Amino acid sequence: MTSTTQREIEAAGGSTGVKAERRGALAVWTIDRPDRRNALARATVRELGRLAREATRDRSLRAVILTGAGGQAFCAGADLKERQGMDESEVRDFLALYRASFGAIDRLPVPVVAAIDGVAFGGGLELALACDFRVAARTAQMGLTETSLAIIPGAGGTQRLVRAIGGARAKELIIFGRRLSASDAHTIGLVSALAEEGESALVAAERYVAPLLEAAPIAIAAALDAVDSALDRTLEDGLSYERVCYERTLESKDRLEALAAFAAKRKPVYRGE
Ligand code: COA
Repeated sequence: MTSTTQREIEAAGGSTGVKAERRGALAVWTIDRPDRRNALARATVRELGRLAREATRDRSLRAVILTGAGGQAFCAGADLKERQGMDESEVRDFLALYRASFGAIDRLPVPVVAAIDGVAFGGGLELALACDFRVAARTAQMGLTETSLAIIPGAGGTQRLVRAIGGARAKELIIFGRRLSASDAHTIGLVSALAEEGESALVAAERYVAPLLEAAPIAIAAALDAVDSALDRTLEDGLSYERVCYERTLESKDRLEALAAFAAKRKPVYRGE
């Protein structure tokens, strides 16, 4: 994908609309366009993809939290104001950009947690679905609402929602454009964990992800790869691929460290080697 153009930056309001910060082994990426409920401009989607590709090469990174600024929205989907000025071919290009950027997030070898405060509608929920886990504030709402705009989810929603919650439930959410409360989303497994009453999703997500910051990174990456590929393979093929993924851990120093730590009754220190 080409880099962000000045025109895209201007259309997004003068910046990509994404803030990236590092807290030790954790990266926190914040969509920071609260006046548009963190809607996805082209520059925003492109920047998220750039960050994901950069993070793939970062050997000291252990997890990513993706969130939205302002407390009212994780992300309200595509920037419908920017979309208004796009012709059909530009919309097609935008969908390809979505696919590339969300795919880069999906393929990250470290766990990615979407921290959902407020709404995650349309492309906003599709973005959260490209993450490995979703943690939501009690007041969050989410849905693939595209059919109400006379389109369908075009950033992976029809495929990733089925994989996350199964075909029957996904069909109901997409066809009716249902908006789910955080607690209903938690009940059906779309959300992995809920924040405490009055707590922000970001704080809850930091707590959720904390154990992974000290986990064995080669094992985590191998497990993500094996699980993510399960639904795309036959059982036989999947079992073979599990062996391939296991092999990566077998050759690691971290595996020996785990055994040594167990024998010495101490906490293991994993280095990703
Ligand atoms: N794209 C661009 N701007 C958006 C937006 C979007 N997807 N969603 C909200 N905004 C803007 C609004 O236009 C408004 O801007 P304004 O102050 O210049 O009028 C501002 O964000 C606040 O939105 P508002 O509707 O007043 O806030 P709210 O808290 O009452 O409701 C939403 C927020 C997200 C529930 C509501 O704006 C909404 O339903 N947006 C569309 C969501 C959607 O259908 N997304 C799917 C896209 S495929």
